[in-house]
Amino acid sequence: MLDQFLRDGSNKRSGAYGGPIENRARLLLEVISAVCEVWDSKQVGLRLSPLNSYNSMIDSDPIALITWLAKRLNDFNLAYLHIMRSDFFQAQQGDVMTPAREHYKGLLVGNMGYSADEAAEAIASGKLDAVAFGVPFLSNPDLPARFKLGAPLNAADSSTFYTADAKGYTDYPALAD
Ligand SMILES: Cc1cc2nc3c(=O)[nH]c(=O)nc-3n(C[C@H](O)[C@H](O)[C@H](O)COP(=O)(O)O)c2cc1C
Repeated sequence: MLDQFLRDGSNKRSGAYGGPIENRARLLLEVISAVCEVWDSKQVGLRLSPLNSYNSMIDSDPIALITWLAKRLNDFNLAYLHIMRSDFFQAQQGDVMTPAREHYKGLLVGNMGYSADEAAEAIASGKLDAVAFGVPFLSNPDLPARFKLGAPLNAADSSTFYTADAKGYTDYPALAD
């Protein structure tokens, strides 16, 4: 829902919660403020997917959106800002990570399509503080051990991504299996 407010492809409101970015971001900032009244802000992280077009989400200017948010989120002293760097369907393209790094002063986590090598390089060169892995973790229960060893990864079977039973969730083999 927060994403639906953020992006102008879905937010067609007028008034205080629609129109310019500062209005579209209002609900997100209000929610972060409320959550940080209950928990220490260092216990609160935020994940944004400014390019992802899944479920028909779209924005006319994702770079402007992430730039504005990266600046404004400095006010909250969050545990981290986690950004999905691209789009599952390549409908929206652009570099959202560079402006995020430039303007956000806290801990920045990158995600989407990283290999172990690219993640290590991004962290070593200071582009990111951490990288999050989704699909590789789904198909490799021992992902950190595999990275450490430079071992090959199990390929993920996308046909089981949204199914309901154990197949594709708990049956991928670990190295020792
Ligand atoms: C089966 C599946 C379900 C997902 N569900 C969500 C979700 O509910 N919310 C979300 O923000 N991202 C979701 N994602 C996206 C992942 O969190 C992650 O951003 C994406 O897989 C890209 O990272 P990766 O290349 O490391 O897998 C999902 C991904 C997969 C494969």
